[in-house]
Amino acid sequence: MTYEMEKEILQQPQVLTNLINRYITKENKISFNLPEGIKKLTFIASGSSYHCAGMVAKIFREVANIKASCEYASEFYISKNIFIERQTLYIFISQSGETLDTVESLKKVKADGGKTLCITNCKNSSLWKMCDYKILSEAGEEKSIASTKALIAQLLCMYLVMLEFLDSKGHNISQELKDIKKLPLFVKDFLADTSQIQNAAQKLAKTPNAVILGAKYYYSVAKEGALKIKETSYIDANAYPQGEFLHGHMAVLNNKPLLIAIAVEETKESMEIILSRIFKDYTPQLITISNEDSIFPNGLNIKINTKNNIYNLFASVITFQLLAFKTAIALGRNVDKPLGLKKVVK
Ligand code: AGP
Repeated sequence: MTYEMEKEILQQPQVLTNLINRYITKENKISFNLPEGIKKLTFIASGSSYHCAGMVAKIFREVANIKASCEYASEFYISKNIFIERQTLYIFISQSGETLDTVESLKKVKADGGKTLCITNCKNSSLWKMCDYKILSEAGEEKSIASTKALIAQLLCMYLVMLEFLDSKGHNISQELKDIKKLPLFVKDFLADTSQIQNAAQKLAKTPNAVILGAKYYYSVAKEGALKIKETSYIDANAYPQGEFLHGHMAVLNNKPLLIAIAVEETKESMEIILSRIFKDYTPQLITISNEDSIFPNGLNIKINTKNNIYNLFASVITFQLLAFKTAIALGRNVDKPLGLKKVVK
């Protein structure tokens, strides 16, 4: 049986290629219509789109040196005081463009005169119609409840927005553009051999609960991984910022969850320190995601064969998509129609 979720995961190299062709011109310029004079970004979204927002807010802060934060739409729209700022761009990320919490948040920002941009997969959706600025993430129809290609498309669009921002400030972005043009091929190669992820899925399928650790952007990747695993296999997976985990949370290891640690390039050393501390008192089964053949004794390692930060980000998101999919299949779940889940739209 073929599943929509798997088809959509495998479509990702093509989705990335389409977006690169659409938004990077022959003259090597990024062609979004964006407002000028913006000093701060506030992302508002739900679910996987929120996790995308979490990744890109941190990239904007760390790489582009611009203030950026993100809010759960469901929290934002029930808040009393939202303090709209004139030089802030409010960015709404949504696959459907119809998610109730996100649309209500947008109405609130608009009512107070905030400047708005949406990144959505659905032209003519409510978000699309209402926002001042708009970017089509063009991943094609997403049939699976578990979002995969839509998030990857949002992530690329937002990364390109950041590069355009850097370009407008006079930074040389030619190396980043070269790298991004090769991203579809890298993703295609990564998807060609998933044997290590299959082994990890066999382990994950045998546990009722899992803990996922990551730092910086990879904490948002960990949250997305946990959501994907919960949605498709119903395993109780929870993400923690790797350092914060030591502050009491690690007592959950007494329940013997499987531990998944994201330890790629930027965060490898700090993760190794965290794992050494954990293994002083606990002996959890461990899966690592790293750029090495193996990074911790007795752990099962999923290798991402690159040292490029942006490739690592995409590949780690895709690793969790595949891990969730393969685990759910091993458990005999219907991944396209998880029990009790629907899209939360109007
Ligand atoms: C993701 O796998 C989920 N199905 C869900 O969290 C989804 O991302 C969320 O409901 C937001 O949807 P949207 O992107 O269409 O706004």
